[in-house]
Amino acid sequence: AGQDMWGGRFSSRPAEIMQAINVSIGVDRRLWRQDLAGSRAHCRMLAKQGVIQSADAEAILKGLDAVEAEILNGTFPFRDQFEDIHMNVEARLSELIGEPSGRLHTARSRNDQVALDFRLWVRDACDRSIAQLKALQAALLDRAEQHAADLMPGFTHLQTAQPVTLGHHLMAYVEMFGRDAGRFADARTRMNESPLGAAALAGSPFPIDRHMTAAELGFDRPMANSLDAVSDRDFALESLAAASITAGHLSRLAEEIVVWMTPMFGFATLPDDLTTGSSIMPQKRNPDAAELVRAKTGRIMGSLVALSTVMKGLPLAYSKDMQEDKPPVFEAFDALDLALVAMTAMVSALRPNTERMAAAAGAGFSTATDLADWLVRELNLPFRKAHHVTGAAVKQAEALGVDLSQLPLEEMQKLEPGITEAVYKVLTAEASCRSRQSYGGTAPEQVRARIADWRARL
Ligand code: ARG
Repeated sequence: AGQDMWGGRFSSRPAEIMQAINVSIGVDRRLWRQDLAGSRAHCRMLAKQGVIQSADAEAILKGLDAVEAEILNGTFPFRDQFEDIHMNVEARLSELIGEPSGRLHTARSRNDQVALDFRLWVRDACDRSIAQLKALQAALLDRAEQHAADLMPGFTHLQTAQPVTLGHHLMAYVEMFGRDAGRFADARTRMNESPLGAAALAGSPFPIDRHMTAAELGFDRPMANSLDAVSDRDFALESLAAASITAGHLSRLAEEIVVWMTPMFGFATLPDDLTTGSSIMPQKRNPDAAELVRAKTGRIMGSLVALSTVMKGLPLAYSKDMQEDKPPVFEAFDALDLALVAMTAMVSALRPNTERMAAAAGAGFSTATDLADWLVRELNLPFRKAHHVTGAAVKQAEALGVDLSQLPLEEMQKLEPGITEAVYKVLTAEASCRSRQSYGGTAPEQVRARIADWRARL
């Protein structure tokens, strides 16, 4: 039993409930690759430093290879009685190679071991998220390029505001996901220090070389304080924070897809293979994938709260509370994985109804601001006065049941005598978009320039 690892000072086996609340192998077995990598690096370092004999080190390394083979071919016995992945591996190693296995844990504790394994896992998760975010950005760039000049209404308060292009709208998400990838990269840089060799909490009296193991495991350096090394989980929290912000962005895009797909909007559809039907209503085509991306945000943000709550108030150094760090992190990154890949598929397959979007872009008096701007530019009206005149024009158009671009010139001139026929040139959605040439604006040239910037960066 796990107790064999420390049984010297114990006279009875753990109660059933002790084992039930303590066991974590069902969750932390996912750390096996990291655990083996850490053990190999530690073993080689111990041999190089003369802490263990090289013959023992060789036996251990061979044994670890055998453990790996068993895990890969599904014959490795994951046993609750050995509590966690670290003791399961060591117990199996002992069964496979006998006495030398007992030397592997020299100058090491499960405290620095688990801190190492978990850090390696989270580092990989961040790398995976960055790669998936880039794939999503690439998909958005392709669609943005395709629709760089296609019109859609821009909204504020979900009320028609000003015309924009669909390409511009999609590029807004490219910016967001770019910052998300940056947050994962920042978190990775900060977490990339090795806790291995901190041992239980105080360091080790053996002549270990922490720089060697750090380098072998791809870290920039060893962590500088052994207490911090075994008790910090802020690397996981920071990654969950990055995941939460990413999830928030995914959720906003998912919500837009849901809204666009409602027949009342009719802005876009998804192909059959990315939607579901209803078991009772034959007409239905439901955006379940978008809804689930939106919903995964709950799990991901919940994980940040869960781990923050576990960690707050823990005295230094390790406490068993910290074993509860893994479920929320695994859950969050599993959810984020699915959400990012599902969103990439939806973005690539989305079928915008560009005619309907363009029609909506010109409706709802969306070019009212263009009229006001024209009055300022051509007639030198103060903007506040121009705003008022335009408001009156909208009111009159509404009363006559026409759009601003259809409001007769006489009606306009009743409100402002200086208005001429030339005004109609600025009242189309297309002219409105084309005119917004300011850096980062919605004019197609601007959108294409930003797409080119991103293509060079990705
Ligand atoms: N399963 C434990 C965890 O995940 C490993 C560390 C145990 N250390 C200890 N001193 N009991 O945190």
